[in-house]
Amino acid sequence: MRRRVRLIASGRELLRIRGHYGIDAPYVPLYMGAGGAGLALAAVVLAAIGQSWWPVLADAAVASLASAGLYLYCTLRGKLVVWARILASLRLRGDERALDVGCGRGAVLLMVAKLLPRGHVVGLDLWKTSDQSGNDPAATLANARAEGVADRVELVTGDMRAMALPTAASTSSRAAWRSTTSPRPLDAEPRSTR
Ligand SMILES: C[S@@+](CC[C@H](N)C(=O)[O-])C[C@H]1O[C@@H](n2cnc3c(N)ncnc32)[C@H](O)[C@@H]1O
Repeated sequence: MRRRVRLIASGRELLRIRGHYGIDAPYVPLYMGAGGAGLALAAVVLAAIGQSWWPVLADAAVASLASAGLYLYCTLRGKLVVWARILASLRLRGDERALDVGCGRGAVLLMVAKLLPRGHVVGLDLWKTSDQSGNDPAATLANARAEGVADRVELVTGDMRAMALPTAASTSSRAAWRSTTSPRPLDAEPRSTR
């Protein structure tokens, strides 16, 4: 019981969110919302001209609009709650190193960084805006500053499918990433807070 209380407290601390983490696959709720609005309009028109099956379209409109709302809740808040619980339950020491593959604007990456005050986190991403709204390393760095963890966050631009994981034999993991993540090497432009 005492352990559970500690985990919940830790998860609550992770949920003091100061950054802005965007919307995952932003076209999805947009299409759901637009579709729902279109169906609602069609239902109104059908009802106005006396068609008896307008409730079918009205039901579909409600389902579509409710799905859009649920989607937005999950992407803006729900996934953060779930991740906070999972990460708090890991009971990290605080000096580990972590890699977030597909970190986006840092929702998970920066929660991990909060749990690693003496550690280091690396976020790898291609920054696709179709996968997350406003996806950009500058947004992630701004979030790292807002969350107070910028000193231990490093960002790398690269494709996870071309990523060679650092091995125990590597002199340092950063050196391994430098030589293997290629679309834009770290040296080409500032990507890191260090
Ligand atoms: C749905 S977003 C999730 C971002 C973040 N993990 C979060 O929970 O907020 C998926 C992320 O994966 C990235 N991504 C997709 N394909 C990738 C690839 N092949 N290599 C690296 N990143 C990729 C996208 O740019 C995007 O930032």
